[in-house]
Amino acid sequence: MNYEVVIPAAGRGKRMGADRNKLLLELNGVPVIIHTLRIFEADPLCSGVILVIHPDDKKTLGQLLKRYKISKVSHMVTGGEERQHSVYEGLKAAKADIIMVHDGARPFIKQEVIHRLAETAASDGGAIAAVPVKDTIKKVINGCVTETVERSSLWSVQTPQAFKLDILMNAHQQAVCNDFLGTDEASLVEKTGGKVAVIESDYDNIKLTTKEDLVFAEAILAKSGQ
Ligand code: CTP
Ligand code: MG
Repeated sequence: MNYEVVIPAAGRGKRMGADRNKLLLELNGVPVIIHTLRIFEADPLCSGVILVIHPDDKKTLGQLLKRYKISKVSHMVTGGEERQHSVYEGLKAAKADIIMVHDGARPFIKQEVIHRLAETAASDGGAIAAVPVKDTIKKVINGCVTETVERSSLWSVQTPQAFKLDILMNAHQQAVCNDFLGTDEASLVEKTGGKVAVIESDYDNIKLTTKEDLVFAEAILAKSGQ
């Protein structure tokens, strides 16, 4: 199933505490955003990439796309204040029936997971990548445990999140009308009553958020022989 992908890359990476957008930091000498883009560049089912950027990064990103011969970026659009706004700006340029949203900050997504997401979005309307929670999760109020949450039903949600374009566009439009800010695409679709299937991904698909994540990322790269 062919798909287009919106890659939000317009954040400022505040929690990383670097001197620039964390997506421009290098892993094994290659910028994080290029690692992510290469996955979609190499996927025959990916028909195009809509890269959502911050104006300050436009020149640098343009140069990187050339240097690393990334040819699938059909649009570079300016993002917004929050991730959700950035994704919405990207969606406005989308035209494929199946659209995937994938954080620029997750450079280790596997093609096999992407393909399962695209297939399931086509059949069910929406599908998200996730992994079972490993820790015991407790609800804590005022420093005391009030409940141990049943772990078997808990999943940590990642990206990609894949949807039929009309479903995701409608969910974003509803969110604008209702002034709703969700933490991921699925939460917007859930609000409209849409079905969201879960595809089991893997624990390597981390989001680079803080400095420690760079150490994990080097280890994941070393493990995969890159
Ligand atoms: N993102 C975006 N537009 C925003 C905020 C985030 O496109 N206004 C993108 C980021 O570039 C990243 C992805 O959304 O690829 C996930 O966001 P996050 O990990 O929170 O990155 P940042 O917002 O850059 O980091 P921080 O929250 O620490 O500032
Ligand atoms: Mg953020």
